[in-house]
Amino acid sequence: MNAENSCVVIFGASGDLTFRKLIPALYNLYKIGKLGEHFSVLGVARSELSDESFRQKMRDALVKFEKASGPKLDEFCEHLYYQAINTSSVVDYAKLLPRLDELHDRYQTGGNTLYYLSTPPSLYGTIPECLAAHGLTTEEFGWKRIIVEKPFGYDIETAKKLDVQIHKCFEEHQIYRIDHYLGKETVQNLLVLRFSNGLFEPLWNRNFIDYVEITGAESIGVEDRGGYYDDSGAMRDMFQNHLLQVLAMVAMEPPAIINANSMRDEVAKVLHCLHPLSEEDVKNDVILGQYARGLVDGEEVVGYLEEKGVPADSNTETFMAVKCEIDNWRWAGVPFYVRTGKRLPTRVTEIVIHFKTTPHPVFSQNAPENKLIIRVQPDEGISMRFGLKKPGAGFEAKEVSMDFRYSDLSSTSSLLTAYERLLLDALKGDATLFARTDAVHACWRFVQPILDYKANRGRVYEYESGTWGPTEADKLIAKHGRVWRKPSGMMKKKV
Ligand code: BG6
Repeated sequence: MNAENSCVVIFGASGDLTFRKLIPALYNLYKIGKLGEHFSVLGVARSELSDESFRQKMRDALVKFEKASGPKLDEFCEHLYYQAINTSSVVDYAKLLPRLDELHDRYQTGGNTLYYLSTPPSLYGTIPECLAAHGLTTEEFGWKRIIVEKPFGYDIETAKKLDVQIHKCFEEHQIYRIDHYLGKETVQNLLVLRFSNGLFEPLWNRNFIDYVEITGAESIGVEDRGGYYDDSGAMRDMFQNHLLQVLAMVAMEPPAIINANSMRDEVAKVLHCLHPLSEEDVKNDVILGQYARGLVDGEEVVGYLEEKGVPADSNTETFMAVKCEIDNWRWAGVPFYVRTGKRLPTRVTEIVIHFKTTPHPVFSQNAPENKLIIRVQPDEGISMRFGLKKPGAGFEAKEVSMDFRYSDLSSTSSLLTAYERLLLDALKGDATLFARTDAVHACWRFVQPILDYKANRGRVYEYESGTWGPTEADKLIAKHGRVWRKPSGMMKKKV
């Protein structure tokens, strides 16, 4: 199904996200025919730009990042427009009315409007209020939807307040809280792997699974986002949203049907079952770290405290490892070890399901426990690890693997990127892969004790850049007799 006729209004149109992700996503959707001719994009920001200069900026970005060229690029740019307003001033929003009327008329978009908040979070409450003051949120003439980027709140209290503010202007069915991890093909594939195969689901529980590891590692540092990052840390930047959403996909119950309500009911249910962390649990089961100087990919890199925009005495975590538990029948007693960090040895997101070993060792030496490795990125794929007999005398077992790589599918080139998929879904009115308010609150509730610990300047361990975080993170899991998998850059090519 293609996008419905509509106008996409991007607030924060002069920002990075717009030209790095949003415009490229819309361009690619246009190129493959998912966005017909009846669409327009209205960029909105404070800077004074004409339609022409906005088009030129976006065209340059498309050429640079997407290697775009040819008539499709020209045609796409014709659909781009720009309006400068002071986004904090309600009066200024009046300028949007004639622009939108004109665009809806020209492109026959029937008043359908998708607002995208790609601004600093301090404006997430203001923009909806200003739009509502001008009647721009009502659905009498076409649908109105709003996409809100993360962070959705700063903690549980601000998340609730923001919700109240936005709900005064938009109803829940109009609100799309974007988490780009849910747009990743391999995260969605988890659902297909689990719920469309008879093989895995019977084993997917406490009787057969020993523990689960979820890793979201990055080799980059904070780059030029030191100012933003120092307020967020790994917890608000990656854990509270992306990784807890991935955890929900691993742990949720099968929905009766894949649609926005049933899916999101199950996601919220499992997130509500996260075992609340007591102060004692935070001390025992949470490790925070901050990168120091070191070598990444053979290059010397500076420590976090030396990054631009970071205060010299910052206690912000760039790494965290947490042992989570889920209080329900399926998962009682199965730890989920989740870790994320910047300046780790490689960029990899993966989920490892560790199955229990055999009840009785028949051979003198068992193979290591069976594992299912779901590689979210890069080298997207799935690897099943199990034991077979080592050739030769005796019955020694060795670990072998059966691998599936996405790149082996001939149609991989037509995979949509996360932003393409999610923008298209929002333009079709499908909120299945967007976070619902109850799930967002459940995530904040779970991390709140860690935020409190942090606010009291709880211990943050230093780790050398290019390593897998502080050694305390190894101890966190070693005390239960387990070790983190150290994923390499690539999935093994051959068994
Ligand atoms: C963003 C974070 O949401 O996700 C970044 O703000 C992080 O700090 C990025 O680098 C990771 O996304 P991906 O898709 O590259 O894994």
